[in-house]
Amino acid sequence: MSNKKPTTSASITSVLHEERVFPPAKAFSQAAHIQSLAQYRKLYDESVKSPDKFWGKRAKEELVWFKPWTQVLQWKEPFAKWFVGGQLNLSHNCLDRHLDTPTANKAALIWEGELATDGKPGEERVLTYKQLHREVCRFANVLKKNGAAKGDRVLIYLPMVPEAAIAMLACARIGAIHSVVFGGFSAQSVADRIHDCGAKLVITADGGFRRGGVVQLKKNVDEALTLKDAQGNALGASIQKVIVLRRAANEVQMQEGRDVWWHEEAKLVGVECAAEKMDSEAPLFILYTSGSTGKPKGIFHTTAGYLLFAKLTSRYVFDLKETDVYWCTADVGWVTGHSYVVYGPLANGATSLMYEGAPNWPEPDRFWRIVEKYGVTVLYTAPTAIRAFMKWGVEWPMKRDLRSLRLLGTVGEPINPEAWIWYHEVIGHGRCPIVDTWWQTETGGILITPLPGATPTKPGSATLPFFGIVPEVVDDTGQTVPRNTGGKLVIRKPWPAMLRGVWGDPQRYNEIYWTEIKGSYFTGDGSRQDEDGYFWIVGRIDDVLNVAGHRIGTAEVESALVSNSKVAEAAVVGRPDDLKGQALVAFVTLKSGVATNPSLREELRRHVAKEIGPVAKPDDIRFAEALPKTRSGKIMRRLLKQIAAGGEIKGDTTTLEDFGVLARLSHGEE
Ligand code: WTA
Repeated sequence: MSNKKPTTSASITSVLHEERVFPPAKAFSQAAHIQSLAQYRKLYDESVKSPDKFWGKRAKEELVWFKPWTQVLQWKEPFAKWFVGGQLNLSHNCLDRHLDTPTANKAALIWEGELATDGKPGEERVLTYKQLHREVCRFANVLKKNGAAKGDRVLIYLPMVPEAAIAMLACARIGAIHSVVFGGFSAQSVADRIHDCGAKLVITADGGFRRGGVVQLKKNVDEALTLKDAQGNALGASIQKVIVLRRAANEVQMQEGRDVWWHEEAKLVGVECAAEKMDSEAPLFILYTSGSTGKPKGIFHTTAGYLLFAKLTSRYVFDLKETDVYWCTADVGWVTGHSYVVYGPLANGATSLMYEGAPNWPEPDRFWRIVEKYGVTVLYTAPTAIRAFMKWGVEWPMKRDLRSLRLLGTVGEPINPEAWIWYHEVIGHGRCPIVDTWWQTETGGILITPLPGATPTKPGSATLPFFGIVPEVVDDTGQTVPRNTGGKLVIRKPWPAMLRGVWGDPQRYNEIYWTEIKGSYFTGDGSRQDEDGYFWIVGRIDDVLNVAGHRIGTAEVESALVSNSKVAEAAVVGRPDDLKGQALVAFVTLKSGVATNPSLREELRRHVAKEIGPVAKPDDIRFAEALPKTRSGKIMRRLLKQIAAGGEIKGDTTTLEDFGVLARLSHGEE
């Protein structure tokens, strides 16, 4: 263990008074892929001055093509096509290409289960590249046998087990488009997603372990397939087969003709499966994410540009080496799990660790036990997790040998400098660089980030753009604002992994992302650039909240609440939260004749969990006589935010709050 004394919060606070800059350590830089700021700047300049040359060269060097492309970029705003005319296969690039190299027998995935079926934590599995290739081919044949073909949509609703990665890669192998749904979403959310993308198959499990309990995935799928829309049409009508993985030895109902077991189907097929030749722009996956209006939208990504960008960002941001044991703690249900658990690391031939469960199960040192046990070298996690570790105390990480770590990353929300310093000192023992990576589901990969051997870091700043990325902070008219002035974060030029659209709705894609600031991609985030050009991301400036790193649309939670027969109106806002970054506060007015009672609050929280999923449960529900509105009838959200930030209401008070007075005092304008 390091001889360094544990950092106390007093010493952390004292260092925060001066802005600190952390230059990369010399030894780290010397061994890194990108070794100096000058080298980064030179490559960056090349990448933005001649993007065709820069990306064309890398696409040739990094990817295996069945047919070469003829044009690097075809840009008809807002629609981009990268590597036009080329053909390749993503699973071929992540697996087959390693098979005649020494990587073949290296661990591709190391997996640790939360709770073994015998009740003991620590079940583990290792799949080498060769083994993973075989399992992916086998499962690709299972998919084909069950009717999946090129272009079909396949919904994946699995726990964090190797089969989640196998299912994704198998879809890519046969050219089916996967849509992974996080296990924390409800039956209703599963049904809505099936309906939106017209999925033909669902892949699920009899259960997954989370905090010692079993998540009823199959049961949710069964329910999803009974749900109907307002006109009485079945939302799951497009589903022909449900493939069920046996994971939790949990009893489930199997519907004859529709439901099949993964392990039984696997016995009936061979392990030979040639990778489909896919067009560069063939859709690869759809991932639903919350926006400021309506139901979540299906962001879709295509093959070549996405893969190239995931591969290069993984290598340069995490400085991946042959010997690394790399662990990204995200669930594959989120984009981070797509790009940085599965596709990016495997394309590089790296060892990617997957862990099924919660960081504090059975005790708050689970992450540190895993780091110690497998000798994790690169750890990528979320600020919300770091803040939870801070709360649980330094004694937990101090008990474990963390000397294998050499690089730490964060993603998902702004990291407060205090958490950054804690991560650096307590987990990284002051010697691991920290990469604070800014990106989105839509961007496909990391856009703003330090490169660990090159970029001096400042706690709380995501620092500088990755190659080829041109971010700017602008005012409402699209003019770049001066340094140290806040504004909207936009990206001025297309990049290989940018979303190609909103599934089935090109109009919405244009409206959401390309009309706010003409000619630029609008991120929905606020930011400023400091005197060194470093980006400081403030967070969402639209009606999207970031709760523990999860994106939640206020409109979505509001419509879930008003779908309850007791609710007349609802307004949902965020309140700053020490642990989760933001907490969800719902202001609710009830239908006439409905009285508040102590259990109503919990009933409504459960209702939201059923409509959307436990991730969207309001932290606080406040009942009001009426919601404060402007003269034109708009809910005064800013006022509600102030009220919400004013403090949590304690106990089970059932008195209705009267915001009418406040509304009149604030001149009736939002
Ligand atoms: C926020 C997650 C500050 C941001 C990959 C963005 C961040 C949203 C950072 C996307 C960061 C992500 N610093 N904010 N390093 N990373 N965000 O789509 O508000 O789940 O717009 O993608 O998370 O969330 P999403």
